[in-house]
Amino acid sequence: MKFFLDTANLEEIEQAASWGLLDGVTTNPTLIPREMERTGLTFKEILKKICKMVDGPVNGEVISTSAEGMLKEGRQIAKIDEKMVVKVPMTPEGMKAVKAFSHEGIGTNVTLIFSPSQALIAAKAGASYVSPFVGRIDDKSGDGMEVVSQIVQIFQNYVLPTEVLAASLRHPRHIVEAALLGADIATMPFDVLKKLFEHPLTDIGLKQFLKDWDAVKEKIAP
Ligand code: E4P
Repeated sequence: MKFFLDTANLEEIEQAASWGLLDGVTTNPTLIPREMERTGLTFKEILKKICKMVDGPVNGEVISTSAEGMLKEGRQIAKIDEKMVVKVPMTPEGMKAVKAFSHEGIGTNVTLIFSPSQALIAAKAGASYVSPFVGRIDDKSGDGMEVVSQIVQIFQNYVLPTEVLAASLRHPRHIVEAALLGADIATMPFDVLKKLFEHPLTDIGLKQFLKDWDAVKEKIAP
C-alpha cells in the first residue's frame, strides 16, 4: 500500500519524506490556504516545493465548478511539475473535465467520493485515482470502509486501472482496514502517520532492553 500525506505543511512533508515512507501528497482548498498563511508563499510556490520533496504524485485541486474553468486551472496546475495530479470534484462538469484531461495525458484524482456508483463513474471518465472519504461517511453514521470495499471489488471485476485512494482517514485502524481491503493508497494527516509507529509495548520493551544492557555493560565491554 502506498502512503500519501494529506497536508500542504512543508515541514510535515519534509519529515515524512526523511523517514522514507512518503509515496505522494494530497492537498485540498482547505489545506493549501493554511500553508499560504503560515509561510507567505503562493499556491504555485507551495506545490513546487512539495514536488521537490516528494518522489511521487502531488495533488493540487481545482476550485472552478465548470468543466471549462477546471480545464483552464488544471492545465496550469499540471504545468507546475510533471508530478502534479489534478484533483477534480465528483460532479458532471468534473467528469467532463476528467475525460478531457485523460485525453491530454494529465493525471486526475476525483475527490469527494461517497458511494461506489460515483467511483465507477469517475473510473469510466478516465480518472487516475478516486478518493472515497471514509471519515466523512463515518461521521454521518455510514460505513466508509464498506464503500472502499465495494469500490475495490468493482474495479477488480472490470480490471479498471483507476487506483483507489482511501481518504479522510482519521486513525491507524482506518489505514489497517483500508490495507486489508486492498485500497491502493491511504492518504492521511501527519498525526495519523506518526501514530502508525506507536505501540506502548515497543516503548516499554526498548526501555527494558536499554536498562538491561546498561546494568552489565561494564562487564561485557571489550
Ligand atoms: C483527500 O484528498 C482529502 O483532502 C482529505 O482526505 C479530506 O479529509 P478530511 O475529511 O479529514 O478533511
